Amino acid sequence: MSTRTRHARALFAGIAPEYEWMGAVLSFGQDPRWRRSLVSRVDAPLGASVLDVASGTGLVARALAARGYRVTSIDASEQMLRSGRPAGPRVVALAEALPFADAGFAALTFTYLLRYVDDPAATMQELVRVVTPGGVIASLEFHVPGTRWARAAWRPYTRYVMPLVGSVVSPAWASTARFLSRSIQEYWHAHPLREQLGWWEAAGIGPVHTRAMSNGAAIVTWGVRR
Ligand SMILES: C[S@@+](CC[C@H](N)C(=O)[O-])C[C@H]1O[C@@H](n2cnc3c(N)ncnc32)[C@H](O)[C@@H]1O
Repeated sequence: MSTRTRHARALFAGIAPEYEWMGAVLSFGQDPRWRRSLVSRVDAPLGASVLDVASGTGLVARALAARGYRVTSIDASEQMLRSGRPAGPRVVALAEALPFADAGFAALTFTYLLRYVDDPAATMQELVRVVTPGGVIASLEFHVPGTRWARAAWRPYTRYVMPLVGSVVSPAWASTARFLSRSIQEYWHAHPLREQLGWWEAAGIGPVHTRAMSNGAAIVTWGVRR
């Protein structure tokens, strides 16, 4: 297992019990709205099988199930999967090596995942492999706001306020909040949007669409497997 995956497992094991409400608190209640936008991109027929990758405590999986899909959840962290309420089968597995046959799912969602993998382009190929041609692949990720004024508010908030709020909850949340601020900026600096959309297209998805939300603090990306 890579150092990055080990780090992700340790990080999420420490914050699993508070994950659902802390996500909403730290994002000023925006995070549920971002997930709703993600889930709305899935347009598979009622009762279709959908795979939710990096499912965590199952917030996206439950929203998919509420729309009438049969959902399978996978996540690297057993603690995250166990902390949530199930929406269907839950499997501890890595996004880089999915334990599923080719083209077995009508659609696939993933949330806040690619910052935690060593090779995001190869991981995109692996995610697409299990989706039937014509199926939607949709993701949600944090983003660095594009306008100068929004960045001027976002930087001090993520760098100083989030760790302060985290420290009130637990040492694990304080260090997660510190990590997040750095991780989001480093990821977007290393991999600008154009490069990321290239991963999607090279994996066989097209056309690829994006929607920036909350002044660019999050981005939903989706497209159909060709
Ligand atoms: C921020 S949580 C997202 C949880 C949930 N989907 C949501 O909407 O909030 C990111 C999840 O990615 C998982 N993860 C990190 N690296 C992974 C990998 N390589 N394969 C599968 N899951 C991974 C973590 O365990 C964690 O539960």
